[in-house]
This record gives sequence, structure tokens and C-alpha cells, in this order.
Amino acid sequence: MSSIRRIGIIGAGTMGGGIAQTVAHAGLEAVVRDVHPQFLEKCRQGIEKSLGKILEKQDPAHAPALFGSAMRRIRFSTEWRDLSDVDFVIEAVNENFEVKREVFAQLERVTGGEVVLASNTSSISLTRLAASTGRADRVIGMHFMNPVPLMRLVEVIRALQTSDETARTTQELAGKLGKTPVEVNDSPGFVSNRILLPMLNEAMFALYEGVGTADSIDRVMTLGMNHPMGPLRLADLIGLDVCLDVMNTLYEGFRDSKYRPCPLLTKMVAAGCLGRKSGRGFYCYDK
Ligand SMILES: NC(=O)c1ccc[n+]([C@@H]2O[C@H](COP(=O)([O-])OP(=O)(O)OC[C@H]3O[C@@H](n4cnc5c(N)ncnc54)[C@H](O)[C@@H]3O)[C@@H](O)[C@H]2O)c1
Repeated sequence: MSSIRRIGIIGAGTMGGGIAQTVAHAGLEAVVRDVHPQFLEKCRQGIEKSLGKILEKQDPAHAPALFGSAMRRIRFSTEWRDLSDVDFVIEAVNENFEVKREVFAQLERVTGGEVVLASNTSSISLTRLAASTGRADRVIGMHFMNPVPLMRLVEVIRALQTSDETARTTQELAGKLGKTPVEVNDSPGFVSNRILLPMLNEAMFALYEGVGTADSIDRVMTLGMNHPMGPLRLADLIGLDVCLDVMNTLYEGFRDSKYRPCPLLTKMVAAGCLGRKSGRGFYCYDK
């Protein structure tokens, strides 16, 4: 584990950016790969803004120097070959099995055979993903929470094939990143999203059926249940497309109608209302 210095991160979206920031903040190096330079540029700007704020709060005197050195530890690339010297990979591309399978196939080609390939998937079967590779014992789930720099949990998901050594290495890396790993087994939605997403989906049904407004539903849950954020605002933060993908995975995985996605969610995603990242979801986010 002590030899893990450079982390490959695939996907420069909400989660990939947060993971790269956390890696660099912890003193490790990050190589971030996405398909278009403009996604990488947006990611870089997001990291600069968030890291700047966190460092300014933590250590105002040293913030500029710490910021400079952390940013220098992140490399952005569209090239697979830049992943050839990483010691560990965290994949954070879109929540789609085929897209992830293709990414894992590329990673197998470019990384050393001993490198662990972790996925930040919210719900896709790690056992199935591992089976699609030639190094199933080194495939594992490393499920960070959003926003990554602030949330303490990493849900570590063991595929059926994951070796003890891979699990140990992943837990140690999570600790090094300042997170608390909690290990669970592979099952649709794991623990976190099996419980969280049906709650968010139910809040959407309450809105859809006119039981309350977005504001009243969220206020019931914040003021009454002491949740730090209402379910609809949280769904906007997660991304409504991600929410829909997870609900579909639960629905298909368990074949149980209690997991059917709310029609309003399906409709909003079709309209491009994806929550905070698109500027509009259950709430409007002025740029
Ligand atoms: N958003 C959340 O709150 C959250 C929380 C935990 C886990 N996750 C999971 O993390 C993963 C990423 O989610 P996100 O919200 O960051 O998505 P996102 O849509 O913000 O970002 C996905 C990124 O992956 C890139 N990508 C697609 N194919 C690629 C490829 N072949 N190579 C490199 N990059 C590629 C896209 O261009 C995009 O920039 C998903 O599996 C999601 O389920 C999301």
C-alpha cells in the first residue's frame, strides 16, 4: 500500500473531480482522464474553486502554497496512455454498464496487471463488472459520497471475486484519503443507495401526486427528521440522471415494483432537467 502514490481517475464529472481534489489534498498524485478537453477544463475550474475555499478555511496563512502544490499533483488528460504509470484506478464515468465495461477493458490494456481497478458505481454489480475483466480479483467498488471532499464515508463493495488483499489495499487507501471505509457485499444499490434512493423517489412521488410542493416536502424532512438537506434538493445535487439510473438498476436487479422510478423523474431527465449540474431540477440554480 505504501507504494500507492499515483491514482488514475476516469471521468472528470461531479465525482471524478471531487475524488481528484481529495487525492491531491491528501498529498497523492492524480491523473484524470475524460473524453473531451472541455470536460477536463470544467473539472479543473471546479477543483480550483472548491479546494481554494477549503484551504482558506483550514489554514489561511498557508492556503496559497498548499493550493499550488495540490494543483500541481493533478494531471488532466484525454489519453489512455497517460494511465500507464498509475498504482491504483478509480473509475467514475457515467452509470452505465456498457460504458464502464469498455473503460475497464481499456484500463486492463494500459495499466500494470497488479493495479486495482475500483469503480465508484452507485449501483452496478461489481461481480458482473469484475467478470468482464481478466483480473476479477483486483476489481472492487469504492463508492464515494457527494460532495467527495466533505463526506467521510467510502462504501467499499466486495465483488464475489475480490481478493482479501484488494479489499485491504482499498480500505487503506480510503483511510489515507481521510475517509472511513465501510465494507459491504455486492447487491443492487449496495446499502447506501438501496435505502437512500427509494426515499428520494418517494419524495418525487409525493410531489408528482400533489401531496406537497418541493419546498414543503423538503421542509418536512429537514425540520421534522433533522435531515441536513431535503430529499428533492439532495436529488438535484446528486443529479436526476444518476438517480434515474440507480432506480432502474434497483428495479431491474430485484424485479420488484416498489423500486419503479417515479414518472416525474423519468420525464425531467428526458427534458434535460438534471438538477444542479444543468441549472434546473426540482429547483432553479441561477448561474
Ligand atoms: N453524482 C453523485 O452524487 C454520485 C455519488 C456517488 C457515486 N456516483 C457514481 O459516480 C459515477 C460518476 O457520476 P457523476 O455524477 O460524476 O457523473 P457525471 O455525468 O458528472 O460525469 C461522468 C463523466 O464521465 C465521462 N466519461 C464518459 N465516458 C468516459 C470514458 N470512456 N473515459 C473517460 N471519461 C468518460 C463523461 O464525459 C463525464 O465527464 C457514476 O457511476 C455514478 O453512479 C455519483
